[in-house]
Amino acid sequence: MRYANVPLFSAFSTRTFIKVLGQVRVHTLAPETLILKEGEKGTSIFAVAEGQVRVTKELGGQILELATLPAGSFFGEMALLTGAPRRASVWTIGDAEILEIPKAVLDEIGSEAPSMSETLRRFCRERLLQTALATGALFRGLDPTARDKLVHRFRTLEAKAGASLLEEGKPVDGLYVVVDGVLQVQKAGKTLAVLRGGDFFGEMSLLSGGSAAATVVVTEQATLLKLARNVCEDVLRERPELVETIKRVAEERRRANEQALASSKGKPAEGHSPA
Ligand code: CMP
Repeated sequence: MRYANVPLFSAFSTRTFIKVLGQVRVHTLAPETLILKEGEKGTSIFAVAEGQVRVTKELGGQILELATLPAGSFFGEMALLTGAPRRASVWTIGDAEILEIPKAVLDEIGSEAPSMSETLRRFCRERLLQTALATGALFRGLDPTARDKLVHRFRTLEAKAGASLLEEGKPVDGLYVVVDGVLQVQKAGKTLAVLRGGDFFGEMSLLSGGSAAATVVVTEQATLLKLARNVCEDVLRERPELVETIKRVAEERRRANEQALASSKGKPAEGHSPA
């Protein structure tokens, strides 16, 4: 067992390290073992002491490979930090030794190792972004280099529950991509859609040059990427394939909105984002 393989532990003082060692659970696992499952509640974080793991996510009935994590990496931090269910499944690749640190232990040592908490938060943000890039309609068709270039033109934005990012009839200042959190699209007192990680919005006014077609409100604390209106125009000129994606989504949404507004019930539709 190689604890020295796990850089996260270097944030600990000797006293904390000894405390953690006493409470860590060690799992010696065979190849292709499911360590944690997407959608389940998370009560521990894990570190790879030996071997490698792969991270997968289900999207529209398909399994997407998000990442391979080598020895020394940790995973399972997102559910603990955000309180949301596991966002991905994690599997061993070959034989592996996995360390499990229960939440109670992390909570206890968190204040003794503030740099560890900061590292976990930084990784969580970065991974949410990578997942939004891998699963989001706007970026999915791009090769990794183009994706990376594009994402650097966006600005990151945090928004609290209750904040309105777009207001129906008002000018729109850019194109937004949801990295994490939940938003609702509302019009005429109805919820037309729910937006989550990977979805984008603000495309209708971008295409029409007009004002916002609906109001977008944050319902659960959200992290977003925003491409300012003037930068949008440059980017779309450089990448005509994005214009096609945006047009297709805008058209699907316009039709869905017409139907929802015409029906008296107007039940919220998940996402209205492209498959
Ligand atoms: P959690 O959501 O608790 O459980 C699944 C874990 O997979 C998640 O925390 C992260 O640790 C990890 N994970 C999710 N997305 C990615 C990604 N894009 N790259 C690497 N690891 C990820």
